[in-house]
Amino acid sequence: MNDDNKGKVSRRTFLKGLGGGAIGTAVISTGLVKSDSVEAYSPESSGGVGTRKTLNLKVNGKSYKVEVEHRSTLAEVLRDQLGLTGTKIGCDRGECGACTVMIGGRNMYSCSQLAVWMEGKEILTIEGLAKGDKLDPLQEAFIEYDGPQCGFCTSGQIMSGKALLLKNPQANEAQVRRGLSGNLCRCGNYNREVAAVLAVANKAR
Ligand code: FES
Ligand code: FES
Repeated sequence: MNDDNKGKVSRRTFLKGLGGGAIGTAVISTGLVKSDSVEAYSPESSGGVGTRKTLNLKVNGKSYKVEVEHRSTLAEVLRDQLGLTGTKIGCDRGECGACTVMIGGRNMYSCSQLAVWMEGKEILTIEGLAKGDKLDPLQEAFIEYDGPQCGFCTSGQIMSGKALLLKNPQANEAQVRRGLSGNLCRCGNYNREVAAVLAVANKAR
């Protein structure tokens, strides 16, 4: 989120902004051109040098044709080329979890995955969780339990929580803590993040 806007939005608006609705704007601003269900990426707008490869990416149920540098990480492509900035980059070296997305149903650090490895894989980012105006129950729980403080780690926490609940819908507290253990929170808001995931798990019992 833009720092200038921090004071102007509610938690609900913020979480929604992390979720659906950002794609259309991003598509226009990054030079993506919509053509039926496949979106073509214009290499002129990518900048940079190096060996490139054209990939077919499936992100949040949409197909994209994207030209990437071989060295580009998935996090970079999601943010810089697809405009999906709900995925954050903190450490950029596989330590903090801010960049967590789901790949083939598993939570993974997108800063530690090369984009060229993603051909044919199903990628889910925070933007793919809400259905229109309806937030995912886990996003709702993060609002209810004050999961976000500064919010920088929130999308990663939610994606790890989501991956856990998909695998284990009735996870107990120890399992939730383990499931979120790869996601650091510099605000130290762990108890509330765990409570949010646990609340969704408790409803499934
Ligand atoms: S930015 Fe990927 S683990 Fe920190
Ligand atoms: S809420 Fe600030 S880093 Fe987690």
